[in-house]
Amino acid sequence: MIKPYGSNNLNPLLVTSIERQQLLIESQSLPSLLLNSAAAASAVMLGAGYFNPLNGYMNLTDAMSVAEHLHTTDGLFWPVPILNMVKDISAISGANRIALRDPNTKDYPVIAIMNVKTIEVITDEQIAIMAQEIFGTLDVKHPGVVTFTGMGRYLISGSIQVLNLSYFQTDFPDTFRTASEIRDEIAQRNWQRVVAFQTRNPMHRAHEELCHMAMDRLKADGVVIHMLLGKLKQEDIPAFVRDKCIRKMVELYFPEKSAMVAGYGFDMMYAGPREALLHALFRQNMGATHLIVGRDHAGVGNYYGAFDAQTIFDEKVPAGTLEIEIFKADHTAFSKKLGRVVMMRKAVNHSRKDFVLLSGTKVRQMLRDGIAPPEEFARPEVAQILVDYYNSENGEQ
Ligand code: ADX
Repeated sequence: MIKPYGSNNLNPLLVTSIERQQLLIESQSLPSLLLNSAAAASAVMLGAGYFNPLNGYMNLTDAMSVAEHLHTTDGLFWPVPILNMVKDISAISGANRIALRDPNTKDYPVIAIMNVKTIEVITDEQIAIMAQEIFGTLDVKHPGVVTFTGMGRYLISGSIQVLNLSYFQTDFPDTFRTASEIRDEIAQRNWQRVVAFQTRNPMHRAHEELCHMAMDRLKADGVVIHMLLGKLKQEDIPAFVRDKCIRKMVELYFPEKSAMVAGYGFDMMYAGPREALLHALFRQNMGATHLIVGRDHAGVGNYYGAFDAQTIFDEKVPAGTLEIEIFKADHTAFSKKLGRVVMMRKAVNHSRKDFVLLSGTKVRQMLRDGIAPPEEFARPEVAQILVDYYNSENGEQ
């Protein structure tokens, strides 16, 4: 099986249940800090082994180095800073061991214990440099930029021990999986070549076809459809609805046992190319040998070129750094001439009008109006789940 990123064995930071009991007792006498959602999601990713080989949150020098040069000061390739940024440190001043509380779970339980190494102040200029590097823009309309620049000016670095995986295991018991669990399941299924498919959407026909094409061309044993379960911008479709859509599509349109449906607990950054690099790295940690990167991967609005998330792998990843490989997919859509979903560039004698092209905004508008997207765009069974969801939402308003 493919090695984890950066070490021979995966080292998830989630503690055993005995250690958890001890740490919970200790936490009662520790000063505590309420995390922001992004930092809590990073704790989940560290706990679940996805962010192997990191052992906690980065300091300012590493954060700047990662943002500007995609490497920590120790020379580890890493595409986005993993940070614990806060607005107020009065509750923890002077402490070298603190309890971190989860903002996404009722009553804010302790999610991790942190050994505080440094507490540093980040200047507005440093925040701006980082945001520009990570997101390629400082536009306050970019959802990732707003979140990142609004998280506070204190940066707390140090290693963590993770006590639980937030709300993901309880809210998505059938879907949330740690990197170690996915590795185990891949081994059990005896898959050697494993394609990972990143998604934050209900899967439409283009998404479905990308998985089939990648599996065919790579002669893969299986695909892990790995959906984001964390926070998204408001217009995006909630995870429980996407989960239902994806499961229905797999049940009806994938050969039996060819797809594993799973999810991970991280908030969407909308960082396009940089996020694609992170996506690849953590899919290697879960045991995938390939990641599909298509059009505008992890993008939002018009901030990134359609294939920037593919070219960044050639431009910024030093040879031999990642073992996982990228399956670069062209813009894929239903051809009215051919009556099937194809990669557009490969379709001869076609112009744009020969394809069924619908933007996410247009599809959401149709759904809000109670109209199912056409069969060329979404499988009818999937469209029905979406229509039902939007109807129930409209009914509640
Ligand atoms: S993402 O933010 O998770 O990337 P989405 O779930 O829509 O969004 O996309 C999942 C993957 O499918 C990404 O690799 C994306 O580039 C790819 N993709 C989505 N739609 C298309 C399309 N029509 N053509 C080519 N690739 C696509």
